[in-house]
Amino acid sequence: MAAASLSPALVAHLPTGMLVDGQWGPATGGRTFEVRDPATDEVLFDIADASPQDGRRALAAADDAAAAWRAVAPRERSELLRAVYARVVARADAFASLITAECGKPLAEARAEVAYGADFLRWYAEQAVRADGLVRRSPSGANRQLVHRRPVGPALLVTPWNFPIAMATRKIAPALAAGCPVVIKPAHATPLTTMLVAEVIRSELAERGLPAGVVNVVPTASSSDLVSPLLDDDRLRKLSFTGSTAVGRTLLGQAAGQVLNCSMELGGNAPFVVFSDADLDAAVDGATVAKLRNGGQSCVAANRFLVHDSLAREFAQRLAARFESLRVGPGTAEGVDVGPLIDADAVRKVAELVDDASDHGAQVLTGGERPEGAGSFFLPTVLSGVGADARVVREEIFGPVAPVVAFADDDEAIALANDTEYGLAAYAYTRSLDRAMRVTDDLEAGMIGINRGMVSDASAPFGGLKQSGLGREGGEAGLEEYLETVYVAL
Ligand code: SIN
Repeated sequence: MAAASLSPALVAHLPTGMLVDGQWGPATGGRTFEVRDPATDEVLFDIADASPQDGRRALAAADDAAAAWRAVAPRERSELLRAVYARVVARADAFASLITAECGKPLAEARAEVAYGADFLRWYAEQAVRADGLVRRSPSGANRQLVHRRPVGPALLVTPWNFPIAMATRKIAPALAAGCPVVIKPAHATPLTTMLVAEVIRSELAERGLPAGVVNVVPTASSSDLVSPLLDDDRLRKLSFTGSTAVGRTLLGQAAGQVLNCSMELGGNAPFVVFSDADLDAAVDGATVAKLRNGGQSCVAANRFLVHDSLAREFAQRLAARFESLRVGPGTAEGVDVGPLIDADAVRKVAELVDDASDHGAQVLTGGERPEGAGSFFLPTVLSGVGADARVVREEIFGPVAPVVAFADDDEAIALANDTEYGLAAYAYTRSLDRAMRVTDDLEAGMIGINRGMVSDASAPFGGLKQSGLGREGGEAGLEEYLETVYVAL
């Protein structure tokens, strides 16, 4: 049943149950759900389908481990994370093959994701010993102020399917570094990679005699049934969610009941702005990365290409030529540049957006359809002459479609770029330092790439403005999300 691309040794040791208090086991009633390969639609594995009751058991285990984990010395937490980092890097090929099998991205991209994901473990191993506080004399001189940081407490981590290792480690590593035990609810489309990371952590915890309930995993096909009751449970102190803005709003509403500490990494509609003085070769290279990483299925993917009138036609033609030169196919095949979308629904949605743009007068320069054959594929697509009201520039595409819109001057470019409820990432290409500095002030985005098509980095704060989220992951800021401040007047 498992994909032929996975080594028998990996398949033999891959956890498929749920992890509660250091034990992998079946879900209540032995319920399971299927994980499929998006390149073939074949079933890869049957995975434990955790019930709400299983979720509560996992939270109880995390809560029981909380006091002991908080008492573990920061250096020891750091060394645990560093050891997990080393083990993930040593098994990079196994992790990459699993990511490709369940998520579809080409193997080279999956390897890059393993390196990116492992980097969160290394970075937070380094940060675990840096939860700084403060001592100072109060302005009145009457006393001293001691400010220190302590772990928030048991955290629920809800991760998305598009970067199955990196989105898990980006939450697990800072939580553990800060001293918070966790319950992870991986995405039901791609739970296996996260479960393998959890297994590496479980075995390191056991070897070091550390509390088993620090990391718990509850895969489920009924996410809201499992998550909602946990948000009402007063043992939970933290929610970290990555996913759509629509789901984020619902979770924030539910989290209000307990005034839960929340980190939200939500949707995006990133503008990619090419100014009149841009290096066009560099802009086409950057656009290809910003659009086609993981087939466009990323919340920081460039969603709209805003190009100065004088370059718009040439940029669109060159981008179309580049997209046409790319090979689309299963991520396991040699030389493939663009893999499948996650499922048939994703393909339908992308096709609908392209049809809507065409109905509004856009021209399809390349792509615009699914290729022949099985699997959830959609051809890399460039659209020109896209109207400002087309859905493809107003909604998050999450697919390999690049709509090109022309602008007349810098003011119009910034106004178009900011004309969205989202504010996650933005990209700008210009040779002028002065213009670059001006646009970084004016663009409403939490992350801005100047002459770069990629901003993601474990050591940098990842997160959005406006309705793209709350809080930051990565960098120094990522640790803060799992700490709270206590002030003592001395
Ligand atoms: C995401 O799409 O949610 C994250 C992508 C990244 O970290 O680069």
